[in-house]
Amino acid sequence: MHHIRNFVILAHIDHGKSTLADRFLEITGTIEKRKMREQFLDMHPLEREKGITIKMQPVRMLWRFQEQEYILNLIDTPGHVDFTYEVSRALAAVEGGLLLVDATQGVQAQTLANLHLAQKEGVRIIPVINKIDLPSADVEKTVTELIDLLNVSRDEIYLISAKTGEGVAQLLGAIIEKIPPPSLAEASYGGRHPPRDREGELSVVPLRALVFDSLFDAYQGVIAHVRVFSGSIKKSGRVRFLASGARFDALEVGVFRPARIPVSELAEGEIGYIATGIKEPEQVRVGDTITDRETGVDLLPGYREPSPMVYASIFPENQEEYETLREALMKLKLEDAALVFEPEESSALGRGVRAGFLGMLHMEIISERLKREFGLELIFSNPSVAFRVALRSGEETVIYSAARMPQSHEYTVIKEPWAALEIITPPQFIGALTTLMSEREGRISEAITIGKDRLLVRCVAPLREVIIDLYDRLKSITQGFASMSYELSEWREADVVRLDILVAGERVNAFAEMVPREKVNFVGRARVEKLRGLIPSELFSIALQAEVEGRIIARETIGAMRKDVTGYLYGGDRSRKMKLWKKQQRGKKRLKESAHVEIPTEVFLKMLKK
Ligand code: GTP
Repeated sequence: MHHIRNFVILAHIDHGKSTLADRFLEITGTIEKRKMREQFLDMHPLEREKGITIKMQPVRMLWRFQEQEYILNLIDTPGHVDFTYEVSRALAAVEGGLLLVDATQGVQAQTLANLHLAQKEGVRIIPVINKIDLPSADVEKTVTELIDLLNVSRDEIYLISAKTGEGVAQLLGAIIEKIPPPSLAEASYGGRHPPRDREGELSVVPLRALVFDSLFDAYQGVIAHVRVFSGSIKKSGRVRFLASGARFDALEVGVFRPARIPVSELAEGEIGYIATGIKEPEQVRVGDTITDRETGVDLLPGYREPSPMVYASIFPENQEEYETLREALMKLKLEDAALVFEPEESSALGRGVRAGFLGMLHMEIISERLKREFGLELIFSNPSVAFRVALRSGEETVIYSAARMPQSHEYTVIKEPWAALEIITPPQFIGALTTLMSEREGRISEAITIGKDRLLVRCVAPLREVIIDLYDRLKSITQGFASMSYELSEWREADVVRLDILVAGERVNAFAEMVPREKVNFVGRARVEKLRGLIPSELFSIALQAEVEGRIIARETIGAMRKDVTGYLYGGDRSRKMKLWKKQQRGKKRLKESAHVEIPTEVFLKMLKK
């Protein structure tokens, strides 16, 4: 165990984590040179396509250092703010972290957010500056920023190029020398001694393995990714999940090389996997503890369940695929513990689910995966934050979907979540940033200088304004120089109203949304105008209305399709024509009264696309 080091690489997006991991894999001979491809650990096709890491990936490497074999377990983690939860889970499984900063970019918002997380977990940090090979690298400036942030001396900072490999072997040495080995079982046993038997001898230490991730395998069922904190587990070992209570015999235990390779035993301090054979994904929860004892073992500190930031309803275009959708989400949840969902019904769209996501990128990734991996054609509703509503009856209820928002006379107060943002920017953009924040109903609370010429700006704003496109706006007003991260801060009273869209007098729940009262006239008008261009005309005219608190605030009409009922008449007998037109009018009126306008699926898709 003294020869194990468990660590993660933490960085802002694109600062070179995956490239550094590639160099580690190469130098330690984990991957043969001829099999090496760039960003080796980004295994998911979507990761390769988008060039970003969305999923943590563990790998075990072997490395000889000063006449001694070491096991180095690396967990590569994502850098985007939506996937911070992945990082926090990886951190709970390791003792150390490399904080990687791009020398051409300097410290960025996600560098800082990851650093806060690592410090909270008590993980040992090694600061590393990457991309020193680039002419635009400003190593000096980045060194100053890191000294400022971490309170380290400059000789504690490692300078590397993940691309050329410069400095990478020395960094492996530093990992061994500076990151502590997994602590002894006794120390990690919640500060208490493991149970002893009657003679006072140290009994075999109970197994306690933390599940930090999982995935579904068609043959081996749920595969739990674990960090063994005490005891050990062998193939066929009878074990159970402490929180969920599910029992199983380990079908296989093994390590990540990075492919899954079976081993005879996973011992204390190690990171690996246990194939559970369990076919019901809901029995396995990330953050649970696996043990081999019936009593006397406590749960390892798990993870706080992340709170979703955005909610959207998802409906299969083909209603027969509802079960497929549910099962697909259950399987995705195994790999993506942050995903939450519950069944939902809509009169227009049928059976579906209401799902919670950690942000728009997270939602986009899930939507892509459902499409590609499960062949589902889906409709996503307007994404929205959750609202807390104080009802007149005295109860408080949380509303995840505008369509379920009670009428205004039924409640007294609506509260909405606010976000605390950390933005790192060159100082010259502070004016533009102030304007942007006030447009978004937010404000700046403090600005701190980091290093030579950068500001850390803390702001607060309603989450609904943050999730949509604040990041893109920030990038555009700062010419790409600023970066941001955010987390939920508090609930505040909100002046928002439910905006409904009526088509031919019928409320279409899928179009309902919560809008700030002061913008509702503008938004309502924009929605009906857009819809007018999308709905095909019928034999009768169709009214499109925007409604707020029982008042119609905007209206458009789609004219009736023209059909020439008199075309077959030859000659100019006006009275016969009149008779036919009258008849057509009556028909249209009857049609209109009984009509229910079927809104084609593409209209929903186009309408909900902003
Ligand atoms: P995410 O997975 O999206 O969080 O990004 P990442 O941090 O894994 O970054 P990645 O390794 O994908 O690197 C981003 C880009 O920087 C790639 O185009 C790399 O080739 C490049 N890069 C990484 N390290 C270096 C380096 O040391 N020098 C140079 N010149 N380019 C580098």
